[in-house]
Amino acid sequence: MNDLSPERLAWATGSRPYEFHPTLGSTNDRAMSLLLAGAPTGITVLADEQTAGRGRLGRAWHSPPGSALMLSIVLRPPPAAQSDVGMLGALIICEAVEALGVRGAGIKWPNDVQVDGRKLSGILPEAAWKGNALAGVVLGIGVNVSVDFSETSFHETAISLGDTGASTDRAALLRALLERFDQRSAQLGSDLLFEAWRARLNMLGRTISVLNTGGTNSAGALRGTAEGVDRDGALRLRGDDGAVRRVIAGDIAFG
Ligand code: BTN
Repeated sequence: MNDLSPERLAWATGSRPYEFHPTLGSTNDRAMSLLLAGAPTGITVLADEQTAGRGRLGRAWHSPPGSALMLSIVLRPPPAAQSDVGMLGALIICEAVEALGVRGAGIKWPNDVQVDGRKLSGILPEAAWKGNALAGVVLGIGVNVSVDFSETSFHETAISLGDTGASTDRAALLRALLERFDQRSAQLGSDLLFEAWRARLNMLGRTISVLNTGGTNSAGALRGTAEGVDRDGALRLRGDDGAVRRVIAGDIAFG
């Protein structure tokens, strides 16, 4: 079965406009062009393979053809809800994979979806600007569906849907994801969405280190207790000196 055949894609996407590319540089780049050209909100760009896929903090994101669900969705949220888009992405992935049979999907701040402490999915929200005005946001999503990490350096830190015993039917995952997107995107800007995201965070109350914060501490890790998150998604970290810092970007390590 070709799980992303035209028929299966039509079933998964319903009335939503979409593009599917067997090979593309980055679905985020294509969705950004569509956004800026005035394409409708909700239009979704999918690729079976990306040749220039991008991850957080300037990293590359690569998956072998046929092994991941990779898509980008065009949104035009109210400016005050811009920071909710990442929360929306992580939350709907958790909900969609649980609908497919995964148990206990959690979010590692800021927006990695983890199962059994290993990364199942990452998201890349990117804002589009026209002058100083927010023109929209592209929500990029990558889910490891049947990537074999066993011979890679990620074998202890990454996981695929297939490893969890859940279905690896990418069209079924896409359909579940887009259904959750339609429900949850109506909650952008609301505390309901924020609380549902916060309830999935798996590091609150734990001792963590935060690397790659990009600020004046970029050379070293910040260490402390993950005390909470602010409404804009920033992490509140209580350092060993007792001071609380707001962290807006970075990579968490436990312990
Ligand atoms: C991360 O965890 O670093 C974020 C990874 C985001 C990857 C997805 S795949 C689809 C979309 N297009 C991209 O170039 N990146 C995102």
